[in-house]
Amino acid sequence: LEILLKGLRRLEYRGYDSAGVGIDAGNGKDWESNAKTIQLIKQRGKVKVLDEEINKQQDMDMDVEFDVHLGIAHTRWATHGEPSPLNSHPHRSDKNNEFIIIHNGIVTNYKDLRKFLESKGYEFESETDTETIAKLVKYMYDNRESDDINFATLVERVTQQLEGAFALVFKSVHYPGEAVGTRRGSPLLIGVRSDHKLSTDHIPVLYRSCSYNFCLYFFNFPAGKDKKSCNALPRMDQDTCLFPVDEKAVEYYFASDASAVIEHTNRVIFLEDDDVAAVMDGRLSIHRIKRRAGDYSARAIQTLQMELQQIMKGNYSSFMQKEIFEQPESVVNTMRGRVNFDNNTVTLGGLKDHIKEIQRCRRLILIACGTSYHAGVATRQVLEELTELPVMVELASDFLDRNTPVFRDDVCFFISQSGETADSLMALRYCKERGALTVGVTNTVGSSISRETDCGVHINAGPEVGVASTKAYTSQFVALIMFALLMCDDRISVQPRRREIIQGLRVLPDLIKEVLSLDDEIQKLATELYQQKSVLIMGRGYHYATCLEGALKIKEITYMHSEGILAGELKHGPLALVDKLMPVIMIIMRDHTYIKCQNALQQVVARQGRPIVICDKDDYETIKNSSRTIKVPHCVDCLQGILSVIPLQLLSFHLAVLRGYDVDCPRNLAKSVTVE
Ligand code: F6R
Repeated sequence: LEILLKGLRRLEYRGYDSAGVGIDAGNGKDWESNAKTIQLIKQRGKVKVLDEEINKQQDMDMDVEFDVHLGIAHTRWATHGEPSPLNSHPHRSDKNNEFIIIHNGIVTNYKDLRKFLESKGYEFESETDTETIAKLVKYMYDNRESDDINFATLVERVTQQLEGAFALVFKSVHYPGEAVGTRRGSPLLIGVRSDHKLSTDHIPVLYRSCSYNFCLYFFNFPAGKDKKSCNALPRMDQDTCLFPVDEKAVEYYFASDASAVIEHTNRVIFLEDDDVAAVMDGRLSIHRIKRRAGDYSARAIQTLQMELQQIMKGNYSSFMQKEIFEQPESVVNTMRGRVNFDNNTVTLGGLKDHIKEIQRCRRLILIACGTSYHAGVATRQVLEELTELPVMVELASDFLDRNTPVFRDDVCFFISQSGETADSLMALRYCKERGALTVGVTNTVGSSISRETDCGVHINAGPEVGVASTKAYTSQFVALIMFALLMCDDRISVQPRRREIIQGLRVLPDLIKEVLSLDDEIQKLATELYQQKSVLIMGRGYHYATCLEGALKIKEITYMHSEGILAGELKHGPLALVDKLMPVIMIIMRDHTYIKCQNALQQVVARQGRPIVICDKDDYETIKNSSRTIKVPHCVDCLQGILSVIPLQLLSFHLAVLRGYDVDCPRNLAKSVTVE
């Protein structure tokens, strides 16, 4: 139970409106009879509330020993049905908890399935799509053709009826000590922990040759080894096909995110869509019905670099604050081993086999959502300048809604911190189908986007736990700039510009530290603003993205209305909002838009606005003309957006704290949006 609850706490940033556990709770003498009764404990609210409820139940009922051998737990972010104990997971097949399941994602055909199951007499207790799966597995079990059907096969049958996206884990009183997990479109990994050295770093995938009636499996060994045909007829429930063959005392952890398991092991297997992974008698097997083109015959056990302290708050009050202050190091990690400041070169290992093809392409399309989209907006200009290619920046949802034409000679970038955002993932599949080269820019090793793209750049910012993205933005920004530099490394005419940018990257970490030292000043500014209803943020050129990103940070964690406004559009409407009461923040930097920004400042001042200006610390002209300034150090124009966004990250953080909100858990939002 402690392991489950700790895991939930680590995953809480992905959703936190309710939580639950399902555990063995029989009163028998041995684990097997214990596992023939399942107890569910579910609560609305955060994991803390669930924890309290579990403690209460332990106090009340001394007969219940929470000595768990296999348990499942879930923290929910509601999509179907309001947050409540009934709607939270695990969901159950019936009042006896014969089957219980946890689910991430969305089942789009749940209404049809529910109607069918209701017609068979199944009674539903929640409003969720997930409950249909719990009932369906029982239906499949009750209507099985033979008694010795194994759990994995049953789950496989269930998933064949499901449409939508899911990561699922099943537990049942009929299969004590067994768990089955499967995924399609939502992430699922398995942590493997053993005190002994594992004899293999690959788990073979078993392919079922045909329909259920035959129940034959192919062995597929890692490349280079023998492949036996189905003549040998190894069956799922025979030891021969299961892992480990000779190790003892292996523990397995199914999780949607590595942060839940990193405390126990850094060795993980990322499941592929439609893999069915079963743990039985302490052994793991992975199998699937069909072999896909290009599919590997084994799943690698990968070693993650993630450290536990990376996902702990340390001395900070929140993950968001910690991540803001980590930026001097996270940008260094993005550049480490890639930018050589002495000879002004950039190497991106993940792109090296494709860079020539990218240089020949017709256009670049950057596709993303939210903050990651803003990283695309922020770097578009320098990408256009250094690649001399047309660059489109697209919101994934809109890109799909428009059925945007995509061609074989397009290169499509998918920028995503989590690497799991459903809209971006759909857009990726859309572009792949049309033959474009796909490039991932993600922060999560093993994520769907990093696996499904042809090539990519890992931003190496370290795990980002705060729901409001901060360090991922600045690292995405740096990664895209590195890509732009790589694209033009053999063009003589741009070498002075390349050198200027690379030397800008060299000093960037120190300049970020200097901006972070403004924290006290920004906190003071927040005390003056936190009771306001609205904040407008205006800028143009390189800083339009800063305005959008700053406004997003403010709205998502302070719930104040905030709008990022392109200063060039002021006269076309937004100026009407300006009066002496409306809080306005303007970004004015000494780049090619400087004069135009000065004009915008005059227009706002002429309407009695009293803007707070984020400007260059040596820009005495702007400092003189503004009632209030936040002075940041100067950097090369195309990197200045990294320095101008940090004051807004800090401001949103302090505003949220002053307004009494939990900055890491903004209402209605979750970190990883795996549903469309
Ligand atoms: C805002 C925020 C979101 C994400 C968006 C995309 O602070 O975090 O807007 O940027 O949901 O997420 P990823 O980058 O994981 O694809």
